[in-house]
Amino acid sequence: MKVAVLGAAGGIGQALSLLLKTQLPAGSDLALYDVAPVVPGVAVDLSHIPTAVKVTGHGVDNLADALQGADIVLIPAGVPRKPGMDRSDLFNINAGIVAKLIEAIADTCPKALIGIITNPVNTTVAIAKQVLTKKGVYDKNRLFGVTTLDVIRAETFVAELHGLNPADVKVPVIGGHSGTTILPLLSQTGLSFTDEQISALTHRIQNAGTEVVEAKAGGGSATLSMGQAAARFCLSLAKGLKGEAEVVDYAYVETDGADALFFAHPVKLGKNGIEAILPYGPLSAFEAKAKTDMLPGLQGDIQLGLDFVK
Ligand SMILES: NC(=O)c1ccc[n+]([C@@H]2O[C@H](COP(=O)([O-])OP(=O)(O)OC[C@H]3O[C@@H](n4cnc5c(N)ncnc54)[C@H](O)[C@@H]3O)[C@@H](O)[C@H]2O)c1
Repeated sequence: MKVAVLGAAGGIGQALSLLLKTQLPAGSDLALYDVAPVVPGVAVDLSHIPTAVKVTGHGVDNLADALQGADIVLIPAGVPRKPGMDRSDLFNINAGIVAKLIEAIADTCPKALIGIITNPVNTTVAIAKQVLTKKGVYDKNRLFGVTTLDVIRAETFVAELHGLNPADVKVPVIGGHSGTTILPLLSQTGLSFTDEQISALTHRIQNAGTEVVEAKAGGGSATLSMGQAAARFCLSLAKGLKGEAEVVDYAYVETDGADALFFAHPVKLGKNGIEAILPYGPLSAFEAKAKTDMLPGLQGDIQLGLDFVK
């Protein structure tokens, strides 16, 4: 198993790489790429941790080496939010970064499973689809927007409210990865909530990223929780690739378009990425309305990404 992290010297990249160094299966390779000159140092630092995962660092001229033979590529490269910004404000810088990195993946490891973390995820995943399609290598079963952070936040906040161990709480989160496009399905948790709790929890899960951006006061957005979320998702991809049975996780993937071209669903993962997109099940009246209300915005975000490459 080879995993490449693009943007590995950043806040998310370093946290994610640390978790992968300690959690990937023995014998795996972990390739770290970044344009920041510190990246070889990050790799040397991690290489002193005694696990059977080989870490290599790759600077700005060595992207192809990082990608050669990769089974999974995770992309947290780009700029994060500052207070007052929403994720769409990052589009101008991050769209170009993602497009260039995806071109390199298409040229070097077109069969790799790609997990996009760079915001705005609603749009950057659509950009990736277009770039891969232009290169003639697009496979919708191998492209994922990483929305796991929304799932782990929802688990944490629901557990807090009910005084439960977060490990025992499951909260499906569907839709997109920005504001109201993030739709937690509290009706499917098996727990009871008042209407006020549903409204407040939904709002908190949708705005949890902003909670971190404001608390960091100009120092960036979620990095440590995002590193954990991306590592958890990467381990699901890896289990699927290894042929483990019944690996299901949530991700923002290309669908049949019933809601939007890209929509976060539960997906069954296997040796070729997505084996099946699973239905998200029945929605409460509150959730159905929230979905109807947010769809035009999500569809607009996706169209922006599709048009960027045209
Ligand atoms: N999907 C999510 O849930 C989620 C959550 C939090 C943050 N994010 C996004 O993740 C991205 C990274 O956030 P961060 O806090 O780690 O930022 P950061 O600034 O700490 O790190 C970004 C890294 O990307 C590198 N980089 C920039 N251009 C690059 C390129 N062309 N090739 C390779 N590397 C490049 C930088 O050198 C830096 O090391 C942001 O876009 C942020 O909005 C996504």
